[in-house]
Amino acid sequence: MALDLNDNYSNRALRAGDPDPDPGRPVGEFIGTVRSNAWVNDEYKHVVLKLHERALKAYAGQMFHLLCPSPDGAEVWMRRPMSVYRVDKAAGEVEFLYKAEGRGTRGMATLQPGDDFNIAGPLGVGFRLEPSFKNVVVLGRGVGLATLAPLSQLAAEQGVGVTAILSARHQGVVMSKELFEGLGARTLTVLDSDATSAVENVERILEELIAAGKADAFFTCGSNRLLKLMQRLGKKHNIPGQVAMEQIMVCGFGACYVCVRTFEVDGKRVLKRVCRDGPVFNMQEAVGW
Ligand SMILES: Cc1cc2nc3c(=O)[nH]c(=O)nc-3n(C[C@H](O)[C@H](O)[C@H](O)COP(=O)(O)OP(=O)(O)OC[C@H]3O[C@@H](n4cnc5c(N)ncnc54)[C@H](O)[C@@H]3O)c2cc1C
Ligand code: FES
Repeated sequence: MALDLNDNYSNRALRAGDPDPDPGRPVGEFIGTVRSNAWVNDEYKHVVLKLHERALKAYAGQMFHLLCPSPDGAEVWMRRPMSVYRVDKAAGEVEFLYKAEGRGTRGMATLQPGDDFNIAGPLGVGFRLEPSFKNVVVLGRGVGLATLAPLSQLAAEQGVGVTAILSARHQGVVMSKELFEGLGARTLTVLDSDATSAVENVERILEELIAAGKADAFFTCGSNRLLKLMQRLGKKHNIPGQVAMEQIMVCGFGACYVCVRTFEVDGKRVLKRVCRDGPVFNMQEAVGW
């Protein structure tokens, strides 16, 4: 295929329905068609993309690297990393929940139904559910809830019970509640506005879940404070855990080392790339920030 100078995107990127030239490859570059891109509250938008079937292999905790349109006519350099919010295999769609704040995500917020959107992925190592996990606790805050939400889909598929504790500044920015509940999770909301999100209160809730046998594993994203709490309780009660980390990224596939963070493995400090070795890591190895 000759490259047309007027094309916005490379002619190697796959659209829904295209024959797959490399079906064995886990990662690809795709041109999605925007189905919808709606506000869910004052700060967050939810975009739904129709995508090539290879992109639907993405699982909870993995990310795509997004080539965001410009919000102002000037170039937006570098792709932006974004966790998968939901994969709807039957509809051939992948969804993202995002906070429109910087130039990339503000550009994304301008996308209209029918527009093209170039994304690369799925990238990284996502969440894993061990056969011994019968009931898990998911604790997230802010945009971290977008990363944790597809865990409820994975858990529902594997018959694992989920208690999701959703932490937010106030009721107006609580997200993903319907998605968790729609897949059978029990949800608890804790807020800054009524002080229920205080560490002492969340600790009390976690201790109750542990005592009730509802916490075979912990999962968290979006707050250093909550990560530290889960690490402490995980150590105390010998509960395994996983954390999804965020870090500024450039390449997104392990080549540039921009996303390196420090981890503690067997008492030694080691450096790992969040994009390639994660973004999901053993909770006890994460040093936090
Ligand atoms: C693994 C992973 C999953 C993520 N999932 C989500 C999600 O589901 N929803 C969501 O809203 N956000 C998510 N983020 C954060 C998202 O990548 C940033 O909000 C976004 O890159 C900001 O770009 P911007 O141009 O709007 O902001 P700007 O501030 O203009 O960005 C400037 C630069 O900083 C980088 N950057 C800024 N903030 C972050 C950040 N927190 N993490 C990584 N790079 C950053 C950008 O890539 C860009 O290169 C995720 C980040 C990572 C690493
Ligand atoms: S972003 Fe380049 S190595 Fe992680």
